[in-house]
Amino acid sequence: MNVAAHALQRARDALTDLRPQPDDIAADVIAGLSRSPRTLPSKYFYDAQGSHLFEEITQQPEYYLTGTELALLEARLPSIAQAIGPGAHVVEYGSGSGRKTELLLEHLREPVAYTPVEISRTAVLEATARLSQQFPQIQMLPVCADFTKPLELPTSTVPAQRTVMFFPGSTLGNFTDEDAVRLLDAMRQTMGAHGCALIGIDLDKDPALIEAAYNDAAGVTAEFTLNLLARLNREIGSDFDLDGFRHRALYARQRGRIETFLVSQRAQSVHVAGRTFAFEAGESIQVEYSYKYTDAGFAALVARAGLKVTHGWNDARDWFGLRLLQPA
Ligand code: AVI
Repeated sequence: MNVAAHALQRARDALTDLRPQPDDIAADVIAGLSRSPRTLPSKYFYDAQGSHLFEEITQQPEYYLTGTELALLEARLPSIAQAIGPGAHVVEYGSGSGRKTELLLEHLREPVAYTPVEISRTAVLEATARLSQQFPQIQMLPVCADFTKPLELPTSTVPAQRTVMFFPGSTLGNFTDEDAVRLLDAMRQTMGAHGCALIGIDLDKDPALIEAAYNDAAGVTAEFTLNLLARLNREIGSDFDLDGFRHRALYARQRGRIETFLVSQRAQSVHVAGRTFAFEAGESIQVEYSYKYTDAGFAALVARAGLKVTHGWNDARDWFGLRLLQPA
């Protein structure tokens, strides 16, 4: 076995598999399209092609989120590490956000363990294997689970002084306030009384900058949105005509969020698992929210989950923020 194969085998041996319930995509799609106004769940953006397109979005000049957060982490990690303290067990929702995870693990003082929590078994094992080679001194304790529910963490051999939940990228912003509170509440239960959470949030700002980020000139975000329909056609045999729908993203500042739609370009019918859905010309399907927070709004949101903001770091333009939370 070569080094990479060994690392993968070690990750398999260390895996806690909570056997998350597989998604019923067809049932979710039928439920969403039966609603008025119609919706589709944004979690279905991320098949292999969608994940690849999202990576491409992060490289677009208009999509400031990823670059700004990375630079913010690079600049402020000494102070973040100080606030978190030594001997942490780092728990990340999602299978490792590449460079951001590496930066955090590099800067924390003697972290004892790292747990990525991810619904895809392959993704969590691959991320663990890669990181284990870079950080041989940190115990890798991957978990395959649905991270929207509270979970019991595997215990590290060296006892952790604190659990730190890491949720960068403003992924929280893709949850409605109600779902975000549920997720933050689950996080609070998982982190325990002495735990904390480091969350990346996109901040409210000039609407033109935000709208440009979701309507890049190269059209990658439009392709990402339309890939949702392509994925459904591939996986549940629906017959969405990709030329019959167009991406539309608007910043609704009064609701503090980008609202993304697929707009039907003509009257048409779509078939999904034996059901027919008739669309009028101009009718839209709501497919994603991306919340942009104010300090007051974010503090009120986390308070609903029994958490409080103890520290905050913003980039120099106040475009993106990192917040450290702990039980209130
Ligand atoms: C993953 N998530 C934080 C991205 C966002 O900005 O809401 C997904 C995305 N959708 C369109 N562009 C990027």
